[in-house]
Amino acid sequence: MILVTGGAGYIGTHVVRSLIRHGMDVVVYDRRPLPQPLLDGKPFLPVPFVVADLADRQALDETFEKYEFEAVIHLAGDIVVSESVAEPEKYYLNNVGGGMSLLAAMRRYGVMKIVFSSTAALFGLPERVPILEDDPVRPINPYGRTKWMFEQMLDDYDRAYGLKFVSLRYFNASGADSSGLIGEAHDPETHLIPLVLEVPLQKRPYVSIFGTDYDTPDGTAIRDYIHVSDLAEAHVLAVKYLRDASESRCYNLGNGRGHSVREVIATAEEVVGASIRTVETPRRPGDAERLIAGNERIINELSWKPNYNDLNVIVESAWRWHKGQN
Ligand code: UFG
Repeated sequence: MILVTGGAGYIGTHVVRSLIRHGMDVVVYDRRPLPQPLLDGKPFLPVPFVVADLADRQALDETFEKYEFEAVIHLAGDIVVSESVAEPEKYYLNNVGGGMSLLAAMRRYGVMKIVFSSTAALFGLPERVPILEDDPVRPINPYGRTKWMFEQMLDDYDRAYGLKFVSLRYFNASGADSSGLIGEAHDPETHLIPLVLEVPLQKRPYVSIFGTDYDTPDGTAIRDYIHVSDLAEAHVLAVKYLRDASESRCYNLGNGRGHSVREVIATAEEVVGASIRTVETPRRPGDAERLIAGNERIINELSWKPNYNDLNVIVESAWRWHKGQN
C-alpha cells in the first residue's frame, strides 16, 4: 500500500493513475477530496482517500493505523512562487511544518521510504543548462527554499534514522492523461500552458509574455516541459527502486529539451487551429532565463523513459482536457 499526500492535485491524480495502472494499492491524503471522474460508468481513480491537513496529527495517526504502508509519495504542498514571496509563513508552515509532521508520523509507524516531489526551483538562476543534480543549489524564493529544506531534512533523517528517499526535482509538468478525465487546474492558475489555452476558450482575453529581452533565440524564456504522465511514471520507478535501495537518490525530472514561451504559444495555435492573442510585458521577477534538465541520471539509474516528449503531444493532451472542462 502506498500513501500519496497531495494525491488530489494535478500531479497527484496522475501519479495515482500510474500507480493503479501498475497494480499498486493506493491511499490518498489531501486537504481536498479526490476528483471522481467516471470512465464507462466506473470510477477512474478507485482508491480510498482521507481529507485532512498534514498538520492534523490525529488524522495522520488514524491513516497510518488503518493501512500498512510500504512507502509514502509526498506531493502535498503550496507551489506558487509569487505567493511564497508575499506570504512566506504559509509556505514554511505547510511545506516544511507539514512535511515534518508527516516524517514524524512515518517514524512512529516505521514507514521508512519516501518519494518527494521536489523542484527545479532549487537551482534558482542556474549558470548553465542542462542542469545536473550536483550543480549548485541556490533557491531564490521561499517556495524553492522550503523544498530545499525538506530535501536536507530527508538527508538528515537518512543519516540518523535510516530513512530512504528519492527526491524528484520536477521541471515544468504539463499536459494531461490521455483519457482527458484528469488535467491541470490550479486556482489561481499561474502556469503558461493552461493560461495560453484559456484564451481560445474565451476564459481570458489574452496571455501575457513575461519578458522578450532574454538572451535566447526569440527573446523569451526557455523551459523544459515534461508530460505529467511521464513524470508520474517516474514515481512508480522510484517506489520500486526504494523496495531494496541501500542509498537515497535525487533526480532531475525533465525531457532535457527546452522550448521558449513563444514556441509554446505557436504550438498551441497549431493545436487549437486559431491565433492566440498575446501581450508582451516586462519579465516576471525571479524567472530564470533557461531551465533545462540534465536527465541522464534518472534514465540510467531508474530506466525512466519519456513517452510523450513532443511539445505538440503535450499541448494536444492539455487541450483535450481543457476543452472538456467547458
Ligand atoms: N509565462 C508567461 N506568461 C504567463 C505565465 C508564464 O510568459 O502568463 C512564462 C514564465 O515567465 C516562464 C514560462 O512561461 O518563462 C513558464 O512559466 P510557468 O509559470 O508555467 O512555470 P515556471 O517555470 O515559472 O515554474 C514551474 C512551477 C514551479 C517550479 C518550476 C520549475 O510552477 O513550481 O516550474 O521549473 F518550480
